Amino acid sequence: MKTTLSIIKADIGSIGGHIKPGYKLLESIREFISKKKQKLFDDFYVSHTGDDIAILFSHQKGTGSSDIHKLAWDAFMAGTAVAKKQGLYGAGQDLLKDAFSGNIKGMGPAVAEMEIEERPSEPFLCFAADKTDPGAYNLPLYLTFTDPMFNPGLMLSPACSEGFKFNIMDVANTEGDRMIELLAPENLYDIAALLRDNERFVIESIYSRSSGEIAAVVSTTRLHNIAGKYTGKDDPVCLVRVQGNFPATGEVLSPYSIGHYVAGFMRGSHIGPLMPVKINSPISYFDGPPVVTCHALCVHERKFTESADVFDHPFWDYIRTKVSRKAVEIREQGFFGAAMLPYSELEYGGIVEKMEKLDKLFKIRK
Ligand code: F6R
Ligand code: MG
Ligand code: MG
Repeated sequence: MKTTLSIIKADIGSIGGHIKPGYKLLESIREFISKKKQKLFDDFYVSHTGDDIAILFSHQKGTGSSDIHKLAWDAFMAGTAVAKKQGLYGAGQDLLKDAFSGNIKGMGPAVAEMEIEERPSEPFLCFAADKTDPGAYNLPLYLTFTDPMFNPGLMLSPACSEGFKFNIMDVANTEGDRMIELLAPENLYDIAALLRDNERFVIESIYSRSSGEIAAVVSTTRLHNIAGKYTGKDDPVCLVRVQGNFPATGEVLSPYSIGHYVAGFMRGSHIGPLMPVKINSPISYFDGPPVVTCHALCVHERKFTESADVFDHPFWDYIRTKVSRKAVEIREQGFFGAAMLPYSELEYGGIVEKMEKLDKLFKIRK
């Protein structure tokens, strides 16, 4: 019997700006789901990263199950009622549609799912990021699944040495999922050529070539493509299986020591370094910096073990200091050049009107 892992996350309101959801809001989601159990799922786990709430389910219903998606949607709706009652900021902001229509993908919340045959021990990592977008995982996943400098398992493990298959999505295409399949290591330069463009080409999933099993999956939603305008950053989630035929946990974590620059700092419109933080960390400096959390868990007969907070370790304090320095360094150039996102990615429509107004004032010099 197969196990499906579904992680579904949304920003449905937060305290003091885009900082974090309150305790009451988190509890309301937990309570809603526990009460609705009715054999829909086998286990669930609720956590938050910055202002986003993620629900991780284990169940038998396969990916894209409307039962599971509806349960998450209903939980977020119930939470939104609590958020509104409390007067939280941005209550219900990621729920872009009025009524549930079969699949939560395309309705606002971010979704990443994988259906697996559980191994005797099934360790996996569950990432959630805030103040950034799905392309934030491009670099760390690329390094883990292609580069022995970060993942020595690519040399040392016979299964990893056979390489991995990348499914990459063109997220600018709004008519459907425009996909390309590329193989590592032989298509490495093609993979790199696409993934350098974080805002357009996003890793959707990765498969082991030795066993054909799914190794990783990322949420690929772009809210502005759904709503037709910017309504917030997409704050992506990602699941990665580890050990055995897959990279070791530490090999998946190693690229997060870079603190690479991603989109989504202040007003979703600036570039900032991605800081690996402890679970339940809020948002702070310049409405950021962009953050990522990671729970390590095992799933066994569809039940979760307790989770380990992998970024809660003295090593990551050193990295957080480095990332803080990188954040201050890019902030020193304010809105100039690389510090701010290109026009097409700014989270505010007001600048479009401003530019139109200015455009009319330009004159060709005689
Ligand atoms: C992401 C996030 C930001 C905001 C952005 C716009 O979690 O909170 O990307 O969406 O700062 O905020 P408002 O709508 O308050 O101007
Ligand atoms: Mg937000
Ligand atoms: Mg957020």
